[in-house]
Amino acid sequence: MSTGQKTSGRVVTTKTVMTMKRAKEKIAMLTAYDFLTARYLDQVGIDIILVGDSVGNVVQGHETTLPVTVDDMIYHAKAVKRAVKNALIVVDMPFMSYQNSLDEAVRNCGRVMKEVGVGAVKLEGGAFISEKVRHLVEIGIPVMGHLGLTPQAINKFGTYEVRATSKQEADRLLKDARILQEAGVFSIVLEKIPAKLAKRVTDALDIPTIGIGAGPHCNGQVLVVYDMLGLTEEFKPRFVRRYGELAGDMRRSFRRYIQDVKSGEFPTLKESY
Ligand code: KIV
Repeated sequence: MSTGQKTSGRVVTTKTVMTMKRAKEKIAMLTAYDFLTARYLDQVGIDIILVGDSVGNVVQGHETTLPVTVDDMIYHAKAVKRAVKNALIVVDMPFMSYQNSLDEAVRNCGRVMKEVGVGAVKLEGGAFISEKVRHLVEIGIPVMGHLGLTPQAINKFGTYEVRATSKQEADRLLKDARILQEAGVFSIVLEKIPAKLAKRVTDALDIPTIGIGAGPHCNGQVLVVYDMLGLTEEFKPRFVRRYGELAGDMRRSFRRYIQDVKSGEFPTLKESY
């Protein structure tokens, strides 16, 4: 199968990402769950591809990310991995794959690293996962942190509203970020927190922050790829900028195809053997 243009450029590692903060170079990250999307992202120079557990929402059609399994993540990460030459691939560890015990965290993160061969995993949470993070990093599994709105904890909070709006919550988030950095994460996703707090955290850390709904002061940005392409039409939070309107494009193409088949206009003899 032809996939178009060839990829060239630098190979991004966790080290590169940390260097980018020092060099004041912004980090561009998007999610991908399949071969072709990952191929196109890699071809145009994305720094990090996140195989997010948002796959549960945008691919599997679940209300939350909770039903996603380690096997699901491995399946999608393998498809992404086959496409990527340069970008750093980070795989989200799904709900209950690392929270229960250090043993389980090592086994499941180890499976992802060994069976897929990606660069890092991402875990949601602060101080309460720091010992696991420390151990994973020590045995050679790089970890990206995730603070603020942590979708795996939706049943604890009950809403997807902005997080850490009070001084107490903001101070706690900053403390969690420092603890994660100390435990060895190479970067931290900050999701849906006030821009002022994201700046405070970004300024306080040596490692890069990657924002989603966290304002312009983070060292990088991430969006769910189907949101920025306009495929998730009803989902319109203010932090999503749409770079395409693919839902409309898809419906138009499907309608034209149906019409052409029904009218006998497709296929022509030229499109036959
Ligand atoms: O699962 C995901 O896509 C994520 C991003 C929103 C950061 O965790």
